[in-house]
Amino acid sequence: MSNALAFAVIAERNAFAADVIDGLSRPKKRLPCRYFYDAAGSSLFDEITRLPDYYPTRAETAILEAHAAEILDGVDEDTTLVEFGSGSSRKTEILLEQAGRLAAYAPIDICGQALEEARARLARRFPELEVTPIVADFTAPLALPAEIAGRRVIGFFPGSTIGNFTPAEARRLLAALRLALGAGSRLVIGVDLKKDPARLLAAYNDPHGVTAAFNLNLLARINRELDGGFDLDGFCHQAIYDAAEGRIEMRLVSRRPQEARAAGRAFGFRRGEAIHTESSYKYALAEFRETARAAGWSPRRAWRDEAGLFSVHELMA
Ligand SMILES: C[S@@+](CC[C@H](N)C(=O)[O-])C[C@H]1O[C@@H](n2cnc3c(N)ncnc32)[C@H](O)[C@@H]1O
Repeated sequence: MSNALAFAVIAERNAFAADVIDGLSRPKKRLPCRYFYDAAGSSLFDEITRLPDYYPTRAETAILEAHAAEILDGVDEDTTLVEFGSGSSRKTEILLEQAGRLAAYAPIDICGQALEEARARLARRFPELEVTPIVADFTAPLALPAEIAGRRVIGFFPGSTIGNFTPAEARRLLAALRLALGAGSRLVIGVDLKKDPARLLAAYNDPHGVTAAFNLNLLARINRELDGGFDLDGFCHQAIYDAAEGRIEMRLVSRRPQEARAAGRAFGFRRGEAIHTESSYKYALAEFRETARAAGWSPRRAWRDEAGLFSVHELMA
């Protein structure tokens, strides 16, 4: 491992420990959802995307397949595609297939292993394409590498990852991405839509237990990386829809009174006490356009799948 990479791993571990101590010390316990995505979590997320009730991936894929040519209008061999939270980069393949020659593809993700697997797969499928993976937290101040900055750039932010942020955080993040991508750029972003709560709840409570395993992996990761002592059988997965806030909330609920160690501290849990692990905000089409406008973007086109479950927006810097 290079010194720079070893330093990044230690910094990430320290940030994880600090966020766990902070989150579990609060009266309403919480853990940031970005820590879901270690290698095990990324692979469980991939499994979730294939579940029958998990409509977002299928609906967004259908939109990209139906509209790739329009989405990539004006993209040419001088354009770099920069993706935020790229994960497996599977949806990106639809765009890469359509785009023909590009200057480069720069996937950004916090999970180095997911980036490496995607890079290896893309190298086989698109041998001509220059892929420059960037292991980074896109919520931290982000400067694109010199060889990308200053070129024509199109940003891609699929998966409704923007829904993991409160509307105020989403505005701040969208404004930061606009600065990072630069003048003249555009952003293509996937956003899950408000819909029948029963449909939403089915997507986050699968009967196969994959979403539960994904949620519980956060405690397993604390055990692995922060010398944690969580008994995974002592917690259960819960997903509820808060209609007033327009968000799905995922929690880990303590099945009994218990204490668990993590990062050198002990944390007590009452029976029924919850750790909030993820919010997933849903938007009406116009609501998201307003959020983007407030962040300085000019919303242009928006596409929906046939059933109106999901949306993909084109925003101009
Ligand atoms: C909901 S998944 C979406 C994955 C993929 N883009 C898709 O559409 O299927 C979120 C992705 O964003 C990454 N991610 C989450 N928070 C991040 C952050 N703060 N910085 C960088 N990547 C992040 C995760 O590792 C994961 O790959």
